Amino acid sequence: MARKKIALVGGGQIGGNLALYAAQRELGDVVIYDIPEKEGLVKGKALDIAEQLPVDGCDATLVGASSLDAIANADVVIVTAGIPRKPGMSREDLLRINLGIIEIVAHGVKSHAPRAFCIIITNPLDSMVYAFQKASGLPHNKVCGMAGVLDAARYRAFVAMELGISVKDVQALVLGGHGPSMVPISRLATAGGVPVTELIPADRLKAIEDRTREAGTEIVKLYGTGSAFFSPAMSAIAMAESYLKDQKRVLPCAAYCTGQYAIRDLYVGVPAVIGANGIERILEVKLTAEEAAALKKTVDAVQQSVNEVNMS
Ligand code: APR
Repeated sequence: MARKKIALVGGGQIGGNLALYAAQRELGDVVIYDIPEKEGLVKGKALDIAEQLPVDGCDATLVGASSLDAIANADVVIVTAGIPRKPGMSREDLLRINLGIIEIVAHGVKSHAPRAFCIIITNPLDSMVYAFQKASGLPHNKVCGMAGVLDAARYRAFVAMELGISVKDVQALVLGGHGPSMVPISRLATAGGVPVTELIPADRLKAIEDRTREAGTEIVKLYGTGSAFFSPAMSAIAMAESYLKDQKRVLPCAAYCTGQYAIRDLYVGVPAVIGANGIERILEVKLTAEEAAALKKTVDAVQQSVNEVNMS
């Protein structure tokens, strides 16, 4: 059986790590595509990783390219093209700059890799996924955004740190947009099956929720010159793997809602089943009045950002 092809559109910080993780997991052959000014950089990253693989004992072919022809017929496309957030810049500040880039990329993917499962990472995430789907016209089930896996992973990491336990045993769900209005559902978070609400005092749990909402900004401040790149890359790889291997994992991500959680015609973070048909299903859970109100707030924020996309 021929290997799958994973095309990375954008070969910067996240793109480089996507290439590394995809190769190390032997998900398929990898193409790192970027603008002509970055051709040397992406060719270098491809070669550097290829030279690591004998040590890892992993097989994958890696190519760096600045021609879109290189992404032809990819099975998965992961988009990080754009600029990352700088200190003092909100995700929304990024909208105007990254929207122009996403529209160009969407047309390129539509003409070169129309069958691909497309995972968007570029911020502001929810409106960039919307813009990518709108400009490409690709089916909604084949276009989604990486955010919830990362937001939930951050929450899980903080809970594990608080309790001094393995991250493997902490499960959590974060709903809504990828920004400060996201909604961690602490009521449903568990550590080894035990509700975390029974293990962590309410004030500490509230602090964990607040830190989760601001986790991206915390990293931006620490790095000083860009945003998180290891954790976003690994989160998108989990989504790509679930699609390529038809794992049907339940992964929170920005999926197109058609009435679920009273959200219509928007990409918002919800728990989704990812399998060979892309986003196969959205799982719904009954929310408390407080959670529903918080979700409405985050959906309104996403809608506002989408309105800006539609007006430009
Ligand atoms: N086509 C392909 N690549 C592009 C294009 C384009 N039209 N325009 C810009 N790029 C490339 C840049 O040249 C750069 O190499 O996108 C890459 C982005 O990489 P970084 O600047 O290192 O940013 P990164 O940290 O990877 O984040 C990318 O993901 O999480 C979000 O906020 C983050 O929007 C940002 C994106």
